[in-house]
Amino acid sequence: MAVDVLLGLQWGDEGKGKIVDVLAPKYDLIARFQGGPNAGHTLEFDGKKFVLNTIPSGIFEENTMNLIGNGVVIDPIILKKELDKLKEAGHDLLAKKNLMIARKAHLILPTHQLLDASSEKKMGEGKIGSTLKGIGPTYMDKTGRNGLRVGDIFLPDFKERYNKLVAKHRDILSHYGEVEDFSDREAAFFDAIELLKQFPHVDSEHLVAKYLKEGKKVLAEGAQGTMLDIDFGSYPFVTSSNTTTAGACTGLGIAPNKIGEVVGIFKAYCTRVGGGPFPTELENEVGEELRKVGHEFGATTGRPRRCGWIDLPALKYAIMLNGVTQLVMTKADVLSGFEKIYACTHYKYNGEVIDYMPYDICSIKPEPIWEEIDGWNEDLTGIRQPNEIPAKLQAYITYLENQLEVPVKYLSVGPDRVQTLTLG
Ligand code: GDP
Ligand code: IMO
Ligand code: MG
Repeated sequence: MAVDVLLGLQWGDEGKGKIVDVLAPKYDLIARFQGGPNAGHTLEFDGKKFVLNTIPSGIFEENTMNLIGNGVVIDPIILKKELDKLKEAGHDLLAKKNLMIARKAHLILPTHQLLDASSEKKMGEGKIGSTLKGIGPTYMDKTGRNGLRVGDIFLPDFKERYNKLVAKHRDILSHYGEVEDFSDREAAFFDAIELLKQFPHVDSEHLVAKYLKEGKKVLAEGAQGTMLDIDFGSYPFVTSSNTTTAGACTGLGIAPNKIGEVVGIFKAYCTRVGGGPFPTELENEVGEELRKVGHEFGATTGRPRRCGWIDLPALKYAIMLNGVTQLVMTKADVLSGFEKIYACTHYKYNGEVIDYMPYDICSIKPEPIWEEIDGWNEDLTGIRQPNEIPAKLQAYITYLENQLEVPVKYLSVGPDRVQTLTLG
């Protein structure tokens, strides 16, 4: 048995939550492996909509377990809010016993959020555009070997360890100016820790190995997208974790030879939220139209997403990095009614024509070279079978498969679970 991985190939928000929910019945375990509550994964079914930040997207499937892996950073306050909201909606995960948490996952402290905000403020115009959830500072403490982990909450000296880290943070914060009062958030943090204590805590590496040994199926759920990867994304305009398949290995404790299918998900166009390069961005009325029709506003922060046409050099790069074996195209319905759609096949860059992501994409703007493609007019939101796919959309899919050399296995034509087609 091997672990399948599902991850985003663009700059996030490709529809990972929706597709993981659709695939969940095929799996015994769904495991988040990196990122934290910077993620917002949206699921819709039976007229209901849920946005998950830390919790894996398999929780609505009766017979599937869920794991928050060691590579994830957890804000107990946000996790408690997520759990409370789910409980109100009739999904009490403590009672259902379908969520486990890795002991080695790191904790986001209230002061990590203050550090994130101060750092962004200091950078001014050049800021990353972070979600302000404290992600960067928490991973800094992890790699700096100062972090607090979920398993630490049971230690008799947890409060002292917490105070020691907060004292360090206060020191740093004082360089940015007066440290704001965070006593309310601190109280909420310790309150939420009590709830965190009630969930089963596991070592994800042993748990996943046990699942595989028993012949059970595991799906690793990515957050963010490949172009936000700390090593290979549009650095420094990235998040602070490895969002790629390699991140699933370190974020759950899986040996690389235990990776099976890698499902890469992309929108039929492209979006990005926050700062940084976006070669195919449309800062015009077409971009506005994509934003309006696609409801392109952040699931976590509500910020308008920047919109543009599909970027094939970036997608090819993402497919290479992740070893993608199957593709999922989402939001095809959003393109209905565009007379022509465009795909960027190459960039003009430094006087050359290239088909790869250049190193200094942040300082020299690559200029897209476009291929014009016929659009389709049909409303796709009601189609359920591959034979209902309009010819021009089928031509777009075939074009992408030829360019990307990976088959499109699923097509999403709306936000609801049922608006998903299995192809081929
Ligand atoms: P994630 O972070 O990758 O899980 O994606 P988000 O949930 O942040 O953003 C995707 C948005 O598109 C959500 O509002 C989804 O409900 C919605 N969505 C997903 N698939 C489709 C689709 O095929 N068509 C349309 N119109 N919306 C979709
Ligand atoms: P999901 O899982 C889209 C972006 C932020 C910012 C950069 C760094 O829903 O696809 P961070 O808070 O991580 O330090 O922010 O990364 N970003 C996302 N963009 N979807 C996400 O998650 C994102 N998580 C972070 O906007 O540009
Ligand atoms: Mg999202």
